[in-house]
Amino acid sequence: MKRPSTVVELECSACGKKYDASVEQHLCTCGKPLLARYDLGSAATSLTLENLKTRPRTLWRYAEVLPNGHAVSLGEGMTALVPVPRLGASMGLRRLYVKDEGLNPTGSFKARGMTVAVTRAKQLGARALAAPTAGNAGGALAAYAAAAGIPAVIVIPADTPLANVMECQAFGAKVVKLNGLISDCGKYVAEHKDREGWYDVSTLKEPYRIEGKKTMGYELWEQFEGKLPDVILYPTGGGVGLIGMCKAFDEMQEMGWIGAARPRMVAVQAEGCAPIVKAWDAHQNSAAFFENAETIASGLRVPGPLGDLLILSMLRQTKGTALTVTDEEMLHAGRELAASEGIFAAPEGAATVIATRKLAASGWIQPEETVVLFNTGTGYKYAEAWQRALQSARTE
Ligand SMILES: Cc1ncc(COP(=O)(O)O)c(C=O)c1O
Ligand SMILES: [Zn+2]
Repeated sequence: MKRPSTVVELECSACGKKYDASVEQHLCTCGKPLLARYDLGSAATSLTLENLKTRPRTLWRYAEVLPNGHAVSLGEGMTALVPVPRLGASMGLRRLYVKDEGLNPTGSFKARGMTVAVTRAKQLGARALAAPTAGNAGGALAAYAAAAGIPAVIVIPADTPLANVMECQAFGAKVVKLNGLISDCGKYVAEHKDREGWYDVSTLKEPYRIEGKKTMGYELWEQFEGKLPDVILYPTGGGVGLIGMCKAFDEMQEMGWIGAARPRMVAVQAEGCAPIVKAWDAHQNSAAFFENAETIASGLRVPGPLGDLLILSMLRQTKGTALTVTDEEMLHAGRELAASEGIFAAPEGAATVIATRKLAASGWIQPEETVVLFNTGTGYKYAEAWQRALQSARTE
């Protein structure tokens, strides 16, 4: 399908230097991530609520604000926005929703980033794709690489949930297990990529995963019929989803869809790995490496996120906040969400339930506000964590 992308160029998120979007690009010479820029005036003429009604129900429906390329698609995006009234009532909230990203191919929102990154990598002639992963991104990359017919190398901590390792292997990827964290896996990819000829798909080290993730913001606007919620709670590891949605909101404003008001963005992290919350509480602009990171929410085990400056500035700009939850709280909240609303969540998603409860109790979220929690992954991939959750339920 030929899609009407309006991409113009890439621009450094820190120093503003411009790059040609028609060739392979990774980081800026200053070391910071590049962001895709579009001709939004032209995009706005065809990207309308009316036109969207007739488009395919995948994230490629937002073609004008995505890069060029013949889409490598497995049906990702347009996930359900589920009202959760019982859960909401238990916190005194009247308009609570879960955006259920567990419904994506490979069971997580990582599919969004990978469909776009792999589409672009294929068009640019990449011969092998490689990425470090906390778990779900590896599974998604392996699936889209298989769909594109390109070999993939996934570098993964040895103690990642078994389902993540198995899916990568099933998709035919080469899996390198390391005794360490995603930061160690990232170093491995950086050290090997030139010699091996790998196209590096690491978080924010190529410009297009964020473009796929930003479609979560476009979908909210579409699913709320041209409006945005008041508050968005997002389990933050690398922060790409959060940065991506804020980018989407800026694009929407430039297209005249929304005004200057923004949903207040809330970064939810695990107590055992909370570099962003630590920086936020200390009123800092950047985050220090979080030592000895440990949590059952494997996707939140990102001790040194490359997008720290962007995440913190977006929390400030949207008058948001950042807070932690413990593993035990996540396990408990996962059971609550499953039993009260029928959503089987990843611990990362369950973390947002606890965070909402805390913010509603403190009055930071008001009863009438429209609130969206992101369940970023399916519980079906977290057998180990769920086993623990159900065991602790029996002993309570
Ligand atoms: C289920 C899940 N939730 C959240 C995250 C964190 O995502 P982000 O990098 O967008 O902050 C991950 C990352 O691996 C994940 O797998
Ligand atoms: Zn730069």
